[in-house]
Formats: sequence, structure tokens, C-alpha cells
Amino acid sequence: MSDRPRPLPLLGTTRHGSRDAMTCLYRCANACDHPVPNTSDNPYFGDLVHAEVSRRGVVRAGAVGAMVLGFTGTLPDTHAAASAATNSPARPPTTPTGGKGIGTGALTFKPIPPNTLDTFVVPNGYDHAVLIRWGDPVVPGAPAFDLRRQTAAAQARQFGYNNDFVGVLPLDKGGKRALLVVNHEYTNEELMFPGFTSHEALTVEQVKVAMAAHGMSVVEIERVAGTGQWRVAGSGRRPYNRRVDALSSTLELTGPVAGSSLVKTAADPKGRRVVGTLNNCAGGVTPWGTVLSGEENFDQYFVGGDAAPAADKPRLARYGITTTARYRSGSRRWERVADRFDLAKHPNEANRHGWIVEIDPYDPDSRPRKHTALGRFKHEGANVIVARSGHVVVYMGDDERFDYLYKFVSDKKFITGDSWVARKHNLTLLESGTLYVAQLGQTSAAEIDGSGTLPSDGAFNGGGRWIKLVSGNRSYVDGMSAAEVLTFTRLAGDQVGATKMDRPEDVEPSLHTGKVYVALTNNTNRGVGSNPRPDEANPRTANRHGQILELVEDRTDHTAETFTWSLPIVCGDPADPSTYFAGYDKTRVSPISCPDNVAFDATGNLWISTDGNALGSNDGLFATATEGPERGHLKQFLTVPRGAETCGPFVTGDNRSLFVAVQHPGEITGATVDNPASTWPDGDYAKPGVVVTWRLDGGPVGS
Ligand code: FEO
Ligand code: CA
Ligand code: CA
Repeated sequence: MSDRPRPLPLLGTTRHGSRDAMTCLYRCANACDHPVPNTSDNPYFGDLVHAEVSRRGVVRAGAVGAMVLGFTGTLPDTHAAASAATNSPARPPTTPTGGKGIGTGALTFKPIPPNTLDTFVVPNGYDHAVLIRWGDPVVPGAPAFDLRRQTAAAQARQFGYNNDFVGVLPLDKGGKRALLVVNHEYTNEELMFPGFTSHEALTVEQVKVAMAAHGMSVVEIERVAGTGQWRVAGSGRRPYNRRVDALSSTLELTGPVAGSSLVKTAADPKGRRVVGTLNNCAGGVTPWGTVLSGEENFDQYFVGGDAAPAADKPRLARYGITTTARYRSGSRRWERVADRFDLAKHPNEANRHGWIVEIDPYDPDSRPRKHTALGRFKHEGANVIVARSGHVVVYMGDDERFDYLYKFVSDKKFITGDSWVARKHNLTLLESGTLYVAQLGQTSAAEIDGSGTLPSDGAFNGGGRWIKLVSGNRSYVDGMSAAEVLTFTRLAGDQVGATKMDRPEDVEPSLHTGKVYVALTNNTNRGVGSNPRPDEANPRTANRHGQILELVEDRTDHTAETFTWSLPIVCGDPADPSTYFAGYDKTRVSPISCPDNVAFDATGNLWISTDGNALGSNDGLFATATEGPERGHLKQFLTVPRGAETCGPFVTGDNRSLFVAVQHPGEITGATVDNPASTWPDGDYAKPGVVVTWRLDGGPVGS
């Protein structure tokens, strides 16, 4: 291979809607080629009686304690009390602020145009730098990356592949040192191994490399003095740096399913310890300074479903696992390394994945935990807010066509402060609680015809309720035990009539207003054939571009069992009459397609990243005010290189630095590492990497 191969032209051989076929294969093993897993006959709730949602009012959020955003993770050092850190220039609001001026914008950057450039594009007045990329050393002493001599032992100490979620947690109160926590969702062996021909032809060592390239990284970073730029701390002890992977890391199960017969295997007869975490997609930073990570398309790693016990097959199939053949298309063949991936031998192994993982980046010796109380599905991510009562509430989406929205309410209450006592307590908050699934009502059901035409009441909106599935060890679903509800949560949702959504990705509460935002990325099967018809929350037939849903809990109480919702943004080309941008002048908004991850800056503006732009441009990152006259004035802030997806937007609490993950650059059908479709970021072959963006004049990003 020459050092600078010629970029492969864009082939235009996309399928499954907007994603490239290669992304479909590696990301989710061609999930769209498989039947929709949700075949339940699950009726609609009907119209709940709720008043028209106020789309302008500022909700006074009712959280208590140290709400954390950006540089607000509880600090591990004994000197780092929250009260002291409040004066830090890098400190964001620690409580939901609500009130005047929050989320009202002042996003002054000039939007960048859609493009297909093989580069990272930011607005005038901004700069960016690659912070870390696939193969860079993470654990001190890790070897430099060598494309042609990859080993699992090296990869297990280097930055993994396909970075997705990004969290930045403080290491000091001055905003100069921090921990970068990143998910590594999946691997693309064609773009990793020179000479790749098939998964079957990979060496066992190469399969192990791929397994080691999954998981998570924790990396110490430091601010470039006086700027919004950050770099990896390249020297010193760096005691927090670590990798968690799918090859050999051990994670602990917590909650009602831990120890149950559903998760016992030959290798773990007690059902409490799992090797590996799979397909870690998005996540969230908790108010107590840990990171949550969603295990998403875990189904693709298993083979042998055809020989699983007959009684298990409907449950496996509901999670997308092939039960009619030994291998599914795109099978990764990990059973060649570890037979736990063979369901013919270990049918319970699949039940040990698909959970929310919590990692404590401040305790490098801690074992990450899979919290079964939060349910098992294809978790996109998980985001936490502290309710007025002190209970913590976690919002979650199940990213599959026609699957559901969930929330978890803890049994115990959050303790404020950074004392070790508080921290030890808060680390148990996700081990017991109540899990709910959402059922959305409609105010204009009769007018929903699949065209996206705004109803005559002026809004796609309605009421809704959270249906209790399980509380502690008590099941609320007929015929299912608590452990079964939590392990086969999708089936529980089917049974209680949850609302079938257009692929719920990130679900994140604004810590400023308390409103919850849901990225519904797309659903080209909506209303097609015998699939469920459009409804007011999912109003377009063959929905290619997705929508943003805003959810407001009744009484602004995050533990409430009822809510109202509306769609502030229905995505697409603004010239397309089926789009909607909160009533804002559509000639002034940027086209957006396939919203995926959301984040908030320190003033409460909503940032939205995309995956699989179906409008022909590269994916990117967008921002809009959520309140006031600028609500709906969506502007494109950046684009990522060819073939890539924009993930993990994260704005630091001082608003000076914006991080994004560039996932799967160059993932275009026909590309290989020897003949890449992208040469980002180094000019040779494509490498996923995390980028930091900042304003040249040191001012707040976006404003
Ligand atoms: Fe991994 Fe739902 O994206
Ligand atoms: Ca309506
Ligand atoms: Ca995602």
C-alpha cells in the first residue's frame, strides 16, 4: 500500500435508505434486511385528554442537588467539593436553572453548507483538532499503532475502533485536566485489516483484535492553556487511563436479574459476572460522576440461534437474533474465539448483553456494572436527571424500528455533594427502582395521513403515560416475573401496549428546562405494507429523515406517570412540505436528516448530530434554541468526513470546547484499508477519532 492511496470515489451504492450498505453490514448486521422484530399486535392507547402543549413556556425544572453537565461530574479528589468547584470558570450550572434566557439561543455562528468533502468542516472563526484516534496509546506503555502488525494485546491498551459516546469529566476545579470517556461501538474489519477477504478468513488473532477494539476507553486529557483546545496527556502516571473491551474485561451484573437462572451459564454458574461489553453506542454522564453506556445491537455477535431451545426462540427473535439458521448475514464469527457466542451451546449468553453499563472513570480498579433494573433492549444510551423528590430518573430509547421509549426511577434518593459517603451511596442508585415504558396519546389522530401535514391544531402533539412494568422484584406484567420483564423487556412492552416509535435513539433531559428530547432517527417501514401506520408522534409514511420529540413531564415532576409531548422538529430538507421547525421561517434553517445523538450546551441550546443523512450530504452537527423566538432556528455547525457519522456531541460546562466523535469515516461500500474512501484524519487511511472544536477568539462555542 502506498502511503497516500487515492480516495475511492463515492459509489452511491447505498441501500436500506440512507446508510451505506457497508455501515448496515457492520453496524447492525443488516438489521433492515431482517423482519421487523416487533410483530406484536399492540394497540394504540388512543387519545389521552390533555390540553394543547405549550410550546413556548419555560418549564421550571424541579431537580435538586448537583445536576451535572459538562464539567460537573463529582470530583474524585477530596479537595474537590461541589461548592468549591462552583466558582470554577469551567463550571456549568449545577441545578436546572429554568427562567429567563435559558435555551433561547444567541447562536451566532454562520451555518456551514451541506457538503461531501473528505474533511472536517467547522464555521469561520472556529478551529478543530483530532484529540485521539483509533490505535493511539491509552494505557501508559501501550505500543504505537502498527497497522500491519496488530495484536489483541496491543489493541487492548490502545484506543478502540468506532468511537461513539463522548463524555468529559473534570479532574480539577480549574478546568485544566479531565477524563475523556468514550464508547467503541463496533468494528469494520474491511477497514482495519489489510488484505481482508471475509470474516471466516480472519486469523483468530485478528478476531481477538476486533473484540479488543470494542468497549470503552478512559483517557486523561489536558487543556491547551488559554484555549478551548484539549490534548491527550502524554506523560505522567495517568492512573485513570484504562480500556474495557469485549475480549477479556469482566463486568458485574446488578439488580433483580443478577443471579437469576436467566443469566447463568457454564462459565458463570452464579449468573453474576459477564465477560465483555458489546456494541456500546451512546450514553450519559451521571450527576455522581460516572458514565452510562448503552449496549445496542448485541444480537449480531451470536450464532447458533437455530439450535437454541425451542422455548427460547421467540425471545431471541424479538431481539433480532437469527433463529432459523446458524449464521446470519454479516456474522462476525466470534465463536471462533469464545464459544460463549454460540447459542447452541450457551443459550443464556445473549441474556447477559443488551444492558446499560455504568463505569466509574475515577476508580480505575472498579468493575463496570450492567444494571439489570434498567431493562434489556437495544439500548442507544441513558441520561439521568434528579427529580424534585431526589429520586434519579433515567431516560432511554430502544433503537429499532417500532420499538419503545423507557424511563427508570430509582428507589433511593440522590445524595448531593462529593463526599465519599455520598458517592458510595449514589453508585447504588441504579441497582433498584421502577421501569416504565411510554404510551403516547394523540390530539389529532384523525388528521394523520402519513404526509407529514401539520394538524389543524397546529402541532403534532398529545398526552401520554408511563406504564409501570416492574418495580424492584414486583412485576406488573401478567405472566412475566420481574426477572423476565427486565430480561425480555421488549416483550413486556408489547404486552402492555407501548407506542411503537420510529427508532428511538438518544433520549436526554435538558438540565436547564427539564424538558426531555428524543431523537427518532427514521423508519422507512412506517406505514409500508403490513407495518404499523403513521401516528401523530411518528407522522410520516416511509419516514426517511426522522423527527425530534419533546416530552414534558406533568407537574414538571420527573417521577410523574403522565406527560405531554410534541414534535418541535420534523426533519428533512426545509423545502419539503412535510418538514417542521417549530414554526420558524424554513428558508432560514439548515437541512437535517436522521437525528441520532443530542446534547445541551451550558445555555441550554440543543445540539443534534446525525447518522445516515438521506439528503446526500455528509453527516453533521446542528444547533437550535429550545425556547423563545429562536426556537426551531436550526443551523448546521459542522460536518464530518466522507462515510462518517457524527456521534457523542459534548459541550463543556464553560461552553468553550465542543467534542464530537467521528465514527466510521470512509465506510462506503467497496472501500478497504488499502483502497480507502476516506483518508481522514492523517492522509493515509480512515481512522475513527474524537475531535475537539473551539472558537479562535476563546469565546463560547456556538454563541
Ligand atoms: Fe448505535 Fe442507535 O445508534
Ligand atoms: Ca395535534
Ligand atoms: Ca447512535
